[in-house]
Amino acid sequence: MADGHDIEERAKFREMLEGTQEDWGIIATHAKQFNKGLAKRVLDHLRLLDGDYGGFPVDRLTHSLQTATRAHRDGRDEEYVVCALLHDIGDTLGSMNHPDVAAAILKPFVSEANLFMVANHGAFQGYYFFEYLGLDKNMREQFKDSPHYEYCAQFCHLYDQAAFDPDYQSEPLEFFAPMVERVFSKPKNSMYLKAMQD
Ligand SMILES: [Fe+2]
Ligand SMILES: [Fe+2]
Repeated sequence: MADGHDIEERAKFREMLEGTQEDWGIIATHAKQFNKGLAKRVLDHLRLLDGDYGGFPVDRLTHSLQTATRAHRDGRDEEYVVCALLHDIGDTLGSMNHPDVAAAILKPFVSEANLFMVANHGAFQGYYFFEYLGLDKNMREQFKDSPHYEYCAQFCHLYDQAAFDPDYQSEPLEFFAPMVERVFSKPKNSMYLKAMQD
């Protein structure tokens, strides 16, 4: 990211074997700054779902906003609502495994239950349509012993499978942006956590 100090603030090594404390001080400073833009980058990527219908009654951004709006209006907390908003963000780059992409992005910032919900919503959502594609609608049963089974089933039932109504009045993306900023400003789990604290 250009910040006007790029030239004097670059590490000098040509291979990491030559790296010094000074080099890594420079890189860590830049990384902390870069991390502050994560929420904005995530929101920008979510916007790629705009206009992407894939045959569904609403486009994927509308579906995401509707899922999050339904969760918010139902009184879910901010972290849950952000998970609802981002649960399908992987549709662009992970079209064969989209829940994994959202789970990877959210993993440092959310609870175990919310991570399970995002990571596995694909199998749970299948309960509502897999039979029409020659798949096992009970695929979610592989998780029947998980403490988060009901939590994930409820997400799909109340919000995800219900969020394809073209007439539903969702909140706009800007409404959720401050929530995304707050959730992404508080990492809980990351192998870089100690190095990234101010
Ligand atoms: Fe999904
Ligand atoms: Fe969805």
